Amino acid sequence: MELKLVSAPAGSSALQDTEADALIAVAAQTDGPVTGALDALDRLTGGWVQEIRASGEFKGKAYDTIVLHRPAGLKARRLIVAGSGKRPDSSEVRRAVAAATRSAKSSGARSVAVVVPDDSTAMLEAAVEGVILANWESDRYRTKHDSLPLQSCTFLTPSQADMAPALERARILAESQNLTRDLQNEPPNILGPQALAERARQVAADAGIECEVLDEDRMRQLGMGSLLAVAQGSAQPPALIILRYTPESATDSTDHLGLVGKGVTFDTGGISIKPADNMDKMKYDMSGAAAMIGAMRAIALLKPRIPVTAFIPTVENMPGSRAYRPGDIVTTLSGKTVEVLNTDAEGRLILNDAITYAKRLGCTHLVDAATLTGAIVVALGHYYVGVFSNNDQFRDKLLASAARQGEKMWPMPVDDEFRDLLKTPFADIANVGGRWGGAITAALFLKEFAEETPWIHLDIAGTASYDEGKQFAAKGASGIAVRTLVDLALNW
Ligand code: BES
Ligand code: ZN
Ligand code: MN
Repeated sequence: MELKLVSAPAGSSALQDTEADALIAVAAQTDGPVTGALDALDRLTGGWVQEIRASGEFKGKAYDTIVLHRPAGLKARRLIVAGSGKRPDSSEVRRAVAAATRSAKSSGARSVAVVVPDDSTAMLEAAVEGVILANWESDRYRTKHDSLPLQSCTFLTPSQADMAPALERARILAESQNLTRDLQNEPPNILGPQALAERARQVAADAGIECEVLDEDRMRQLGMGSLLAVAQGSAQPPALIILRYTPESATDSTDHLGLVGKGVTFDTGGISIKPADNMDKMKYDMSGAAAMIGAMRAIALLKPRIPVTAFIPTVENMPGSRAYRPGDIVTTLSGKTVEVLNTDAEGRLILNDAITYAKRLGCTHLVDAATLTGAIVVALGHYYVGVFSNNDQFRDKLLASAARQGEKMWPMPVDDEFRDLLKTPFADIANVGGRWGGAITAALFLKEFAEETPWIHLDIAGTASYDEGKQFAAKGASGIAVRTLVDLALNW
């Protein structure tokens, strides 16, 4: 999609002169007067904006949209106003612009123009991301498409400053998030562990970073008994994908960020097999891996000052004749032993070896992302990522990034009182801790391997995909966590 930037300060004629299939403006949910660009549009349309508000037809409720066809005073073919709700910050504007873009697309628009609500770079970035994220569809394997992709988008900013760098940053971020979504959506017959490794290699080559893939033999030599145990039930061999970004200019800081992503390309549960209903959704069990690959692409292109390395363990969890069993005891790379009580708690078994390896390779700070537990969906629904950490300061830094990027995340306790639930007489730790507080015992299991290294765990089981389409997003993969992780690296 071609992106254009037009400076449209108050009083300029850009609003009426912009040609597009749809001109998009956002409106907050307020009883106050119509101001700014909305006021200008109201006058250009002979009072349409005031009228739809006065009649109650359009209140500005978040993500509601209303369309005016062939607006007499404008060159655009349609005017779409999208509600940004009662607190119209950049997060809400991102979604409102996305909702309007999807409405435009569904009525056949190929070009849109967006009126950016204020002159901040955050608002422009939100608008750009809104359009690019909305333009993404889940229809790669459809031979007939419900809508066609947009060809161009113009952003009308009231700012007179040079906003081109912000536009470019937003484009990279959103396109990287869409790359993550494409990876997530791939079906498990097409994207197994080796295919994922191949895709990571391609992304690394395109973005100019290093990629190394450890194979089964290498992992055995190293002693990654936990990761290998999960992999052994599948005919498809596992991989540990490593992506390395090294900043060009050295800094005095010795910090090194490690990103660890769960890459289970399909989770049947293994011998502790899952019920048939919704098992297809377990293709999304590599969403943490996909998030790290997308984030590394953006990091490679946006060049933060801190070195960042991603460690992506990838396996298929299958109940084959060589599958690991409940009762098995495995020795992890750390040397700690784990009794497997449930083969469906496989994520923590592949992550712990990757975490240990990341520490050995010099990472001083770790963030993992994983579709780890159904329990986090019970706790936070499909709306919030669960955030667990052994370091409050580090966690708050990430939460600030998440807030800036409009990714909803919520802190969860990592309380050692839960640790007893993982006790077993037969090994150092069990891989499950019973029904209650399942997301917390899972996090505590990982903390056992992070040890003293500042570490954050993102449980994205509830937020990795949209089961239903949203006004602002297609049904399917969400690309959650990419923007937050990149923001964290850029603002280190
Ligand atoms: N991949 C699942 C978690 C999951 C559940 C993701 C629902 C998305 C939606 C994970 O490997 C798993 O199976 N977890 C078990 C753990 C249990 C056996 C302790 C779970 O949550 O049921
Ligand atoms: Zn899983
Ligand atoms: Mn599982």
